[in-house]
Amino acid sequence: MRIAIIGTGYVGLTTGVALAYLGHQVVGLDVDARKVEMLRQGKIPIYEPWLAELTELARHNLTFTTTYAEAIPGADVVFIAVGTPSLPDGNPDLRYVRSAAQSVGEHLGEGYTVVVNKSTVPIGSGNWVETIVRDAFEACHGQKPSGRFAVASNPEFLREGSALFDTLYPDRVVVGTRESQALEVLYNLYKPILEQTFPAPRFLPRPEGLAAVPLITADQASAELIKYAANAFLALKISFVNEIAQLAERVGADVTQIAKGIGLDQRIGPRFLQAGLGWGGSCFGKDTAALVATAGEYGLAMPIVQAARDVNALQRHRVIDKLLGELKILKGRTIGLLGLAFKPNTDDLRDAPALDIAQRLVERGARVRVHDPVAMARAQTECSHLEVQFCDSVEALASGADALVLVTEWAQYRDLPWESLVSQMANPLVMDGRNHLDRERLTQAGYRYLGIGR
Ligand code: UDX
Repeated sequence: MRIAIIGTGYVGLTTGVALAYLGHQVVGLDVDARKVEMLRQGKIPIYEPWLAELTELARHNLTFTTTYAEAIPGADVVFIAVGTPSLPDGNPDLRYVRSAAQSVGEHLGEGYTVVVNKSTVPIGSGNWVETIVRDAFEACHGQKPSGRFAVASNPEFLREGSALFDTLYPDRVVVGTRESQALEVLYNLYKPILEQTFPAPRFLPRPEGLAAVPLITADQASAELIKYAANAFLALKISFVNEIAQLAERVGADVTQIAKGIGLDQRIGPRFLQAGLGWGGSCFGKDTAALVATAGEYGLAMPIVQAARDVNALQRHRVIDKLLGELKILKGRTIGLLGLAFKPNTDDLRDAPALDIAQRLVERGARVRVHDPVAMARAQTECSHLEVQFCDSVEALASGADALVLVTEWAQYRDLPWESLVSQMANPLVMDGRNHLDRERLTQAGYRYLGIGR
C-alpha cells in the first residue's frame, strides 16, 4: 500500500519505518527541510534503539519530502503524526494538525484515501479534521470530495526507547472509524502485525508465543478516549506507587517489596509500579492535562487524574527536600545529576525531571553538574538557558561533589566504578531517584545511600 506520514518526529518516523519494513511504500513528509535532508542521507535525527538498523532494512520502501504534492495524491493512507504541544490552559495546540489536514485536503488524489489521526488529539478531533479536509478540497477544486476520503483515529501506544518493539509487537491495535471501507484499508495495512506474519528483524525478535495481535474497532470518540485513558491510568499507577513510597519511608517499609507484593496480583500487574522521581516525557503530562481540560469543558472534574498530576509534581520537590535534609545548606554545594533524558534509551528531554530539578537547585544557589550517556548534545542546544556544567564523564561529575542524584536509570550507571568514585567526592552522598543502584554495594563502598520509599 502507499502511505504518507506527515511529521517525522518520534511517532511518525518510527511508524513510517516500521510500515516500510512490512513492505508498504512510505513517504515521510516534514516541513523541516533540514530534517528531511538528514533523513534522505540515511541519518536519523533522534536517538531510538534500532531505528537506524530498521531504516537500513526498509530503505527501498522509504522516501522523504517537504512537499504535499509529492506525498498525498495516490496515497491509500495518510497519517497525521505532527506535534500537539500543550497550551498554557492544558489544551493541546492543534495548529500543526490543522495545517496538515488543510494541506491533505488540497492535495487529495483521485483514489480513496484514509486520513488517520495518529497525533494525540482532543476527543472529537476526528470530525474536526474531516471538516478541514473537506473544506480545503472544496476550496481548491470547487467540488465536493464525495467518497474520496474518510478520517479514522488510530492512536499510538509506543514507548520511547522501545518504540519499534511496541510498533511491531503491540498489545493491541485500536482503530476508530464507522466507515467499513476505511476499516478494511487499515486492516490490510496492519495485517502483517495483526497476524504476525512478517519476518522478525534479527535485532528485534518476536516475543515468544506472540501469534496474533488483537484489533479493537471503535467509534472515533472511543478510540480517542482510549488513548487518553490508557496514558492517564499508567500515570496514576506511577503516582499511586509514589504516594505509597512516602508512607513506606515513614513507617520503615520498602516500596520495591510492596510493588512486587501487589504487582503479582494479576488484577494489578507488575508494570508501571516503579517508585521514583515520577514521570516525565511528552505524553503523560500533556495527556493528563488535556483530559482534565476536556472534562472541564463538559463541567466534569477529574479528581483522580488531577491527584496523579499533583503527586507527580511533588516528587520533584521531594528530591530537593531530601538533599536539604542531608546537606542542610544547598548554597555553594556541588550537586551532580546522573541522567538528563526523561527516561533511559532516549535523548528526549521533554518534561524531563532532571531539568526541573537542576533549575530548582540552581535557584537555591547550588552548583549543578549534569551528565547523560546520550542526551548531552541535545541538552547543550535545547537547555542552554540552564546554568549547569555539562560533564563528559561521571568522574568529572563526581569530583569534589557534595552529592550525586541518579535521575535517569541508564543501565550503565548501575555498573559505574563506584568504589573508586567515592574518594573523589567531597561528601559521599548518593540519592538514588529511581531505586536503580545496588544499595548494598554503595553502602559497602562507603556512600550514604538514599532511595525513594525504602
Ligand atoms: C508513554 C506511554 O507508555 C505510551 O504508551 C504512550 O503512547 C506515550 O507515552 P513514554 O512517555 O515514551 O510512553 O514512556 P513510558 O515508558 O511510558 O514512561 C513515562 C514516564 O514514566 C517516564 O518518565 C518513566 O521514567 C516514568 N515511569 C515509568 C516511572 O516513573 N515508573 C514506572 O514504573 C514506569
